[in-house]
Parts: sequence; structure tokens; C-alpha cells
Amino acid sequence: MSPKTMLNFQTEAYNLAEDWCSYLNIKKDSNGYIENINDLVVQLCIETTCALVLGRRLGFLCSNTVSNESLRLAEALQDHFKELRDVQFGLPLWKYFKTKSYQTLVKCENYIYETVLGMINDFTEDTSEGTLYASIMKANIDEREKTAAVIDFIAAGIHTLKNSLIFLFYLVAKYPDCQKNIIQDLNYAKACTTESFRLLPTATPLARILEQDMTIADYELGAGSIVLCHNAVACRSETNFHCPNEFIPERWLGDERRRAISAGTFLVIPFGTGRRICPGKRFIELVLPIFLQQTVKNFEISTDHVLELQFEFLRAPKGSMSMTFKQRD
Ligand code: HEM
Repeated sequence: MSPKTMLNFQTEAYNLAEDWCSYLNIKKDSNGYIENINDLVVQLCIETTCALVLGRRLGFLCSNTVSNESLRLAEALQDHFKELRDVQFGLPLWKYFKTKSYQTLVKCENYIYETVLGMINDFTEDTSEGTLYASIMKANIDEREKTAAVIDFIAAGIHTLKNSLIFLFYLVAKYPDCQKNIIQDLNYAKACTTESFRLLPTATPLARILEQDMTIADYELGAGSIVLCHNAVACRSETNFHCPNEFIPERWLGDERRRAISAGTFLVIPFGTGRRICPGKRFIELVLPIFLQQTVKNFEISTDHVLELQFEFLRAPKGSMSMTFKQRD
């Protein structure tokens, strides 16, 4: 994603944040309480990712304007992810007969493919200028690959962003003292996102299949070996960070920053590294601090919830999370 695409998206990021805050206002009760923040965050993430990839708003943040097509797409994206996990990690019975999970997976895939294809066909170069979609359409690949790339980008973006945003809100709710600084300083909000990625990265561990024989820390590994990089474990080690289990955004600011960066250069890598680095990195680094700052400007966030994690390809919050968004005066 080029810096130009990102610059074009900055105003949209603020518009999305504003709509998100209005949406929270509608959804919370009179005490600011929201029973299940996950369901709301996923709508923000679908809206945001589709805005970036397709240059199109689907209306998820205005409860009365969302179309049936958009609702079904959201449902298909959710179910697709869940069924993919069950098919991949469950007993591989689907290899012998079409299990229920397998059938739902195929149904969701077809629905997502057809819907995105329809959206792509609706677009003209003028309306999509500056979007990721426009860059993909200009790429030197065939039409089916272009459609697959658009779907990959949407699917890869939504769940990673959803988990990251829930983790970020959770940490900021648990460490309310940081909220004053977030309101005053976007750099502080950025430091919060880095610290949240250090403590709770969603896409971990990183995986590689070796193309050639290699020796790593005296272990001789043959070509074809799968190597998993558990950098998230090193991110919680005292050897690398002081008070490693505490949320301390200040470690990414001022004098402390140099020390944290030298310890963390290859440890805090939520988007991976090298040739396969996440193409959504710049986009996420742009939107997360904006979403955080705008939300905290509008609401005091708190929660009694105790986070539990589960693995579903990504590291995700287990179950729904309740949170309070008390309107600031
Ligand atoms: C907080 C949000 C996100 C996180 C934490 C994240 C993380 C990652 C990670 C760790 C990888 C693997 C990199 C590697 O192996 O070195 C990856 C790959 C990828 N990501 Fe993201 N991602 C996020 C958001 C997005 C978004 C918004 C998009 C698209 C708009 C996206 C599209 C992709 C794609 C297409 C790949 C595969 C790249 C390849 O294999 O060459 N991601 N992401």
C-alpha cells in the first residue's frame, strides 16, 4: 500500500471513527454499558476494510441503512472463518464426505466470491481512484487472480483488525490512567498500539517453510522444515523489556524509546517481516491510533471483563467481551 493510498485514506479514517463513536452512542445503554463489544467492533472492521479495499462504505455503522446484501456478507465472512478453523483443526472427515462444516464453508466461499465480484463489476476507474482495488486492477495478473486478491485482502484484514482493536480497547480500559494522554497526543495513541501489539499480537507465531538447509542456534534444519517464530514469548521476557507483562506505552516514547526499539526491532513484529510482510501494515498503523484517540476523546472506557484467549488461526479473545463507554462531558 503506497504512501499516496494511505494519505487518501486519512480523511476516511477520521470519518469512520466519527461514525463509530455515533454508533457506540446508539448501542450503549444509559450507563454506557455494552454487553458484547466484539459484535460492534467486527462491524467497524468490515466497514473499514471494505472502505480501503473497495473504496466503498457498506453502511454497517448506521444501523438503519445497512442493506441485506451487506448483512449477509458480514455473516458469510464470520462463518467462513469459523468453519475454516473447524475444517482445518477438526477430524478431517470432510476428505471422505461433505461434513456440515465443509458444506457451510463452500457456501460461504461462493457467497463471498459472488458478492465481491458484483462489487468489483460495479466499479469504474473514477470512483475507485486511490483505493487498493484500483492498484489491484492495474496489476499484471488475470481477472480471476484479481478477484481472489481483492477477497484475500478483505478476509485477511477483517479478523486481524477486529482482534487487534478489541485487545487495544481492553488494555486501555484496564489501564485508564493512559486515557488522558491518548486524548492529548496522537503519538501517545501510537505508542499504545505498539505496546498492545507487544503484549497481545493476534497473528502469531510467524511461520516459514525453509527453501534450503539452514543452521539456526546450532540446530541443523533441512529444506522443507516448518519454522515457527514465537516472538510473542520473547516480547514478554524480562531479558528484553522491563515489567514485561505491564502495559506501559511510555516505553515507546522519549528517552525510553531507543532502548525499547533496540530490544524490540525483531521482537515486536505484528505484521511479520521480510518479503512476506503484511501489505496492510501501513493502513493499520494509520487507522488504529486514530480510532483509539477518537473513541477515548468521546468516551471513558472501562471493563470488569477478564480476557481469555483462544487460537483460531489467529490469537483471538475467547467469547464476547463486555465494556463500558461512558460519554465524556
Ligand atoms: C492488525 C491488523 C493486521 C495484522 C496484525 C496483520 C498481520 C499479518 C501477518 C503477521 C502476516 C504474515 C507476514 C509474514 O509472514 O511475515 C500478514 C499477511 C498478510 N496480510 Fe495482514 N495483518 C493485518 C491487517 C491486514 C489488512 C488490513 C490487510 C489488507 C487490507 C492484510 C492483508 C494481508 C495479506 C494479503 C497477507 C499475505 C501476504 C503474503 O503472503 O505475501 N492484513 N498479515
